[in-house]
Order: sequence, then structure tokens, then C-alpha cells
Amino acid sequence: MSKPLTIADLKKLARRRVPKMFFDYADSGAWTEGTYRANEEDFSRIKLRQRVLVDMTNRTLETTMIGEKAAMPVALAPTGMTGMQHADGEMLAAKAAEEFGVPFTLSTMSICSIEDVASVTTKPFWFQLYVMKDRGFVERLIGRAKAAKCSALVVTADLQILGQRHKDLRNGLAAPPKPTLNAALQLATRPRWCLEMLGTKRRGFGNIVGHASNVSDLSSLGAWTAEQFDPRLSWDDIRWIKDLWGGKMIIKGILDEEDARAAADTGADAIIVSNHGGRQLDGASSSISMLPRIVEAVGDRIEVHMDGGIRSGQDVLKAVALGARGTYIGRPFLYGLGAMGKEGVTTTLEIIRKELDITMALCGKRDIQHIDRNILANMPF
Ligand SMILES: Cc1cc2nc3c(=O)[nH]c(=O)nc-3n(C[C@H](O)[C@H](O)[C@H](O)COP(=O)(O)O)c2cc1C
Repeated sequence: MSKPLTIADLKKLARRRVPKMFFDYADSGAWTEGTYRANEEDFSRIKLRQRVLVDMTNRTLETTMIGEKAAMPVALAPTGMTGMQHADGEMLAAKAAEEFGVPFTLSTMSICSIEDVASVTTKPFWFQLYVMKDRGFVERLIGRAKAAKCSALVVTADLQILGQRHKDLRNGLAAPPKPTLNAALQLATRPRWCLEMLGTKRRGFGNIVGHASNVSDLSSLGAWTAEQFDPRLSWDDIRWIKDLWGGKMIIKGILDEEDARAAADTGADAIIVSNHGGRQLDGASSSISMLPRIVEAVGDRIEVHMDGGIRSGQDVLKAVALGARGTYIGRPFLYGLGAMGKEGVTTTLEIIRKELDITMALCGKRDIQHIDRNILANMPF
């Protein structure tokens, strides 16, 4: 394939290079995948106003998210098992994000650990926290994120129990892969991935193995994670975490105005309007369709960010027009990583930047800070 020009090109390449179970893990939503599809489709319902004969020179996409400079209003979303899309995936993606000048968020369920990522970056990254039942483990994890000088804690609120993803169940997903015939066949057809994976020691959940009580090896890990997500998680826990952390905090997974008000009441710095990329409550509204009313409800009290379905710079522009201070991409950077490693993540960001820049210009604007609903031709939500 010639140089990838779109996120869809990168997805095609990743499908060829990543073993099926891990490609499917990225490209999956809960149950019917209706919300996963709606996240993408609803962006195309928004139309832009074409403007002409205005000065389009000297454009800038620079902005801030929670007070931190960003080259454009796009961050890398936290994604579990990123080191299974490509060997050492989290370290490569964090480096690409740092060089590009956008925030990188490391998942609790990453393959590379907090310390691994800190060892290859020079600027602070963000850490995403899943609040496990073992609160001692949570305290230690927060301590490790502080020691690594992470500059924001992203607390995920929408995964108290795991949504059912059929592809993962059918594939018998595990990291590292279970030694079944099916897994062996999937790996045999991806020799380059296997070679790169043999070249790293990072093949399990780096933040967990050796750090949680009762988890010393991979065989005890599956049982631990399955029972550790906390169905009792509450707003009181969020306040406890905020005090413990003491730094900037972002609450991820808000899709409802009432929850948005409760999140703003905690004094957090930002919320992410998100349905976990359609991986949790299938049948929930798309993130972009809920964004305007959440901005209306709390936009004057807290920064509102969004994720879900962004596949181009045009989508970023539409989200900003509807009031998002920043956006996050999950699958787009995973496809880039699976396709071409670190260079693929950079390519993802370059593709998005180019689309964002040209679209902004053709809407007659030069500064991302001046983007508002005025650039939209309709308002479908
Ligand atoms: C493969 C995969 C793994 C994910 N793992 C996590 C995770 O560990 N923690 C989290 O808060 N969100 C996780 N998410 C959700 C993303 O942070 C983000 O909300 C979502 O990917 C955005 O949608 P998009 O993929 O359409 O950009 C994951 C998403 C994907 C695709």
C-alpha cells in the first residue's frame, strides 16, 4: 500500500499486521455494536458552512487542555493492552505523542508500566485510573503515578462492570495469548508481530503483575482483574481519590447532564463526554450527540472534553464547534500503532492535523480558539 492518507488506510494495514484477537479487541463494541457505529455515523450528520474570500493565512491549531499546551485539541485516549497491538506499544505511542506535542494517557490496563513509559518520555503524561476493589492497590497505583510525575489523573467512571464484547469472547482474548490451536493459527500468520513480541519482555499487565496482592504471575492475574472492577463505585470514592491524588483530575465516561453536574460538583478540572468507544452500554447515545447538552449544563463550570468516533480532523473541528475544549482518539492511534509502530502513531496525528487545518481554513477560520457553532450549517442534535 502507498503512504496511508486516512485512518481507514491505517486500519486496513493494522488488520494485516496484528493477530486477529488483538485487532478485534480494538475494533469491537458491546453487543450489537450499535453505539460504536453511532459514534462515527453521527459526526457525518453535522454539516459545515463553506466560506470564501476571507484571509486564510497564518493558521494555528494550538490550544490548551486543563491548562497544558497542546499542538492541537487532540489527546491519545487510554487504551488497555496497547502493547499487544505492537511490542512496547505504550512506550512508542507516548514518545510519538510527546514529539508531536499532544497529551498521552496511559491506561491502568496497559502492558508497559507507568515506570516503563516514564523511562522513555521527558514530559509528564496522564494516567488513567480504574478504581479497583483493592483500595490498597489503588493507593499504591496513585503513589506510582505521582512518583512518575504524571500531570493529570483520568478517572474512568463508566466501567464498574465490564460490557459484553462478543468478538473478545469468541476469540478467547488474553494477554499474552492462551496456548490454544486457534491462537497458534492467528499468530502463525503474523510472523513479524511475533518476532517483535519475542524481542520484548513486556507481555503482561505491567501496572498489575507484581504490584497487586495475590498477583505474582500471569495465571493469577485473570482471576484478579475479573473480580476487581468495583460495582459499588460512588461519587464519594471520586472525592476520596481527588484528595489522595491532590493534582489535576479528569472524570471520564460522562454521558448524561445529571452526572455531568455531579462531576462538576467534585471540583474536577475536566470531564470527558464518552461512552467508552461504544464498548460498555450498547444502545447509549453517541458521544457527539450528547456533547451540546452537557456543555450547556456545565460548560461554564468545568472543561468539557469528548471522545468516541473521531476518525478525521473534520470530526475534531465539529466537536470543538460544539463546545469541546479537547478531544481524544482511541482506535485511530491503535490502528496507526498496529500498522507501523511509533511512525504509525505519528502518521495518525499528522493525518488528523492536516484534515483539521484544511477544514478550518475552508470554513473561513484561522485560529482554533475562535471556532464555535458559527461554522456549522446545521445542528442535528
Ligand atoms: C482497545 C480499547 C481499549 C480501551 N481501554 C480503555 C481503558 O483501559 N481505560 C479507559 O478508560 N478507556 C479505555 N478505552 C476507551 C477509550 O479510552 C476511548 O474512550 C475510546 O476508545 C474512544 O473512542 P474511539 O476509539 O472511537 O476513539 C478503550 C478503547 C479501546 C478501543
